[in-house]
Amino acid sequence: MGTYYGHNTEAGIFGLNGPSFRRAARQRGKWSRFRVATAWGGVLATLLVLAPPLESAEVAGRSEPSAAAGPRYVGSLSCSASACHGAIAVPNVDAASRTEFIFWLEQDPHSRAARSLTSPQGLRMLEQLGIVREGKVVDKSGFANCQACHNPVPDTQQRLASFPGAGEGVGCESCHGPAEEWRTEHYRADRSADRLAALGMTRTKDPAVRTQVCVACHVGGRGDVNHDLIAAGHPVLKFEMAAYHAIYPKHWRYERELQANPDLEWQLWYHGQRQAARAAVALTDIRAADKSRPWPELSEWSCYACHHDLVYPSWRQERGCAGRRPGSLPMSRWYLRWVDIVVLDQPAQKEQLEQAVEELRQEWEASANPDRQRVRQIAQRLLTLLDQSPQLPPERLHVVERLSQVLSSAQPHEGRWFAEPITHDWDAAAQAYLLLRAIGPATSASDADVQTEKARAELAAIRDLLGFPSGWNSPRGYDFIEADRPGTPQVVADRMKTLVEMIQHWQGR
Ligand code: HEC
Ligand code: HEC
Ligand code: HEC
Ligand code: HEC
Repeated sequence: MGTYYGHNTEAGIFGLNGPSFRRAARQRGKWSRFRVATAWGGVLATLLVLAPPLESAEVAGRSEPSAAAGPRYVGSLSCSASACHGAIAVPNVDAASRTEFIFWLEQDPHSRAARSLTSPQGLRMLEQLGIVREGKVVDKSGFANCQACHNPVPDTQQRLASFPGAGEGVGCESCHGPAEEWRTEHYRADRSADRLAALGMTRTKDPAVRTQVCVACHVGGRGDVNHDLIAAGHPVLKFEMAAYHAIYPKHWRYERELQANPDLEWQLWYHGQRQAARAAVALTDIRAADKSRPWPELSEWSCYACHHDLVYPSWRQERGCAGRRPGSLPMSRWYLRWVDIVVLDQPAQKEQLEQAVEELRQEWEASANPDRQRVRQIAQRLLTLLDQSPQLPPERLHVVERLSQVLSSAQPHEGRWFAEPITHDWDAAAQAYLLLRAIGPATSASDADVQTEKARAELAAIRDLLGFPSGWNSPRGYDFIEADRPGTPQVVADRMKTLVEMIQHWQGR
């Protein structure tokens, strides 16, 4: 069945190959499995001491949304007994491998999420944002925003409050749900998925639910990474589910999961588009509704609208603005550029969705101060449409066809959002690349390996063209015609066209 590029390959793109991820890889060697596993004091020390002290006692008492009614969190250490998930070696049982805790501690980037808040970079951000002064948290709600994504388990925040600045990070329950009620049930022989879900366990096996879990932090919703945070040094959250999932170091038997569901990566891409768009629009609505937040929120626009080199002669003037008023701010293309794919096989819904996105674009591009009420109205309409969109991905070849159409439209389309050529915007091109890597040649042909190899090589070439030059955090040279990378946007579009034709040919069309 399907062959995907993501398997066993380095699948990162752009920021995903950034310093933070490489650091996690380096740390693997640092703590020997044996030492961490045998010395429990060592584990505690790892969890608690690595963070420089930060007097967060004031934060401890704050009420947490999730601490309200439902089941309580018990903390990752409750999962770590060696007979449960803290084993050193993989026991010969068919269920879970039982090494999840140690694996998480050593290899999962999430186990360092709390420590990142007080890393030199984190601390500098907190100080610049006025959240921390002289080692003290002075803006509780500002800090609560960071904690919501970096250290979300409220009970450990409280329990660990006497070890300031520490916390377990993004632990087991951040993804698997608060465990108070299911902890003593989930290993029983008579357990059922429905019963465990009723007790608060998240259905992470369901690709749609899994995506929802990741999106809440990686797009926003649990918290908000706005332009203030970005300008202070926070990485910009440009999330795409299939790619992040591919590079996420997995503590479960992923090969087995793929065997059971060869379409998994394609499904994750689809749910990722649908739910990341939903989360992004919901966040727009919250930003517009809440008068205490900065408005207009700068990260709603394309970053490269404001952050770019001025050169003369100007390639931007030569290229034109694709129907926009010269000097107007283009809306960000990251989360909505391909969203019509979620209703690709529903013409009526597709038209409504297209209309709503187009109106949102016009609102953001008409002036530098969009109307909050108007933005809210359109955002809410979009949310309804997205909620009504199908739960299952469309036919893969329809999506390839859709991409093929866009790639052949070289001319500006008077600002029509979904027909815009990808040569105009790095974000749109990068999302097209991510779609191509998730879609796979999906072939059952006997030369599947050859096809996969060819597609991989083509994808790698495209990724190199889209990658930021070293030392840059923006696509310098993607936009303008430079001696060493002539006409990159067109080269990217042409190579994508070649790949799309290859896929269509393999499908016997
Ligand atoms: C509770 C919030 C939260 C949830 C849920 C969450 N993440 Fe994360 N994730 C983070 C934070 C915070 C970081 C940054 C960790 C650090 O370095 O401090 C991160 C880092 C990562 C990284 C490393 C990125 C890099 O550049 O280093 C990957 C990959 C990742 N997450 C994938 C996922 C996937 C896949 C899911 C869903 C299965 C998920 N995350 C769920 C908050 C979350
Ligand atoms: C909406 C969720 C969210 C909020 C709110 C948030 N972060 Fe993050 N943070 C993330 C995610 C996700 C990453 C990983 C980004 C990636 O690699 O794609 C991250 C990465 C970071 C990193 C880089 C970690 C590394 O070593 O690479 C630092 C430092 C950081 N955050 C600090 C903060 C601080 C300080 C705050 C509050 C002022 C904050 N974050 C608020 C989700 C969030
Ligand atoms: C970033 C999100 C995330 C975090 C953090 C996380 N998990 Fe998972 N976990 C998953 C996903 C996704 C799966 C795969 C789907 C599944 O099997 O439920 C999984 C699978 C598992 C499985 C396999 C279940 C099975 O039936 O095969 C176990 C056991 C598990 N996790 C335990 C843990 C433990 C223990 C921790 C903390 C040390 C933890 N997880 C932290 C997301 C997470
Ligand atoms: C409407 C214009 C505008 C948009 C759109 C915008 N920014 Fe900014 N940005 C600014 C301004 C103004 C500053 C402050 C510059 C200064 O302090 O000198 C700034 C500062 C920054 C800084 C810190 C200064 C620096 O150069 O390192 C970063 C990083 C940054 N922005 C990233 C982004 C990212 C990423 C996006 C897209 C999510 C974005 N910006 C969108 C106007 C914008």
